[in-house]
Amino acid sequence: MNRRDLIQRIALGGAVLVLMPSIVESCSKSSTGDNGKLTPGGSAIDLDITLPAYSALATAGGYVVVQNIIVINVDNSKFVALSSVCTHQGCTVGFDAPSGDIKCPCHGSVYATSGSVITGPAPSALRAYTAAKSGNIISVS
Ligand code: FES
Repeated sequence: MNRRDLIQRIALGGAVLVLMPSIVESCSKSSTGDNGKLTPGGSAIDLDITLPAYSALATAGGYVVVQNIIVINVDNSKFVALSSVCTHQGCTVGFDAPSGDIKCPCHGSVYATSGSVITGPAPSALRAYTAAKSGNIISVS
């Protein structure tokens, strides 16, 4: 390898290093729209209720858990999104439509749809997110 080849290889390696962060960044962001993945920037989740995975949200009392967030169709006009991770020991909570409460199957904690604790042992409320429905899309942010 002569000096010229060496300089060309170093220049090529530098170009790869310069481009690498943008390549990695573009791979880490996903477009979504309706598949439940994060939108660019990771600020929202859009759920298309016509898709089988989210069709439970088309009915009052239905809910899904996506990316550690429980999204609930409370009564067809009110949609709620909360952390699905129980603040006691981390079990996944579920929505109990008959009572209208969120319950943890592990030790019996009960939460309101606001996320506040009704019955312990959970020590604190579930984190609340914003959920809004537009057409067949429920956006959580
Ligand atoms: S983990 Fe939910 S009540 Fe214990």
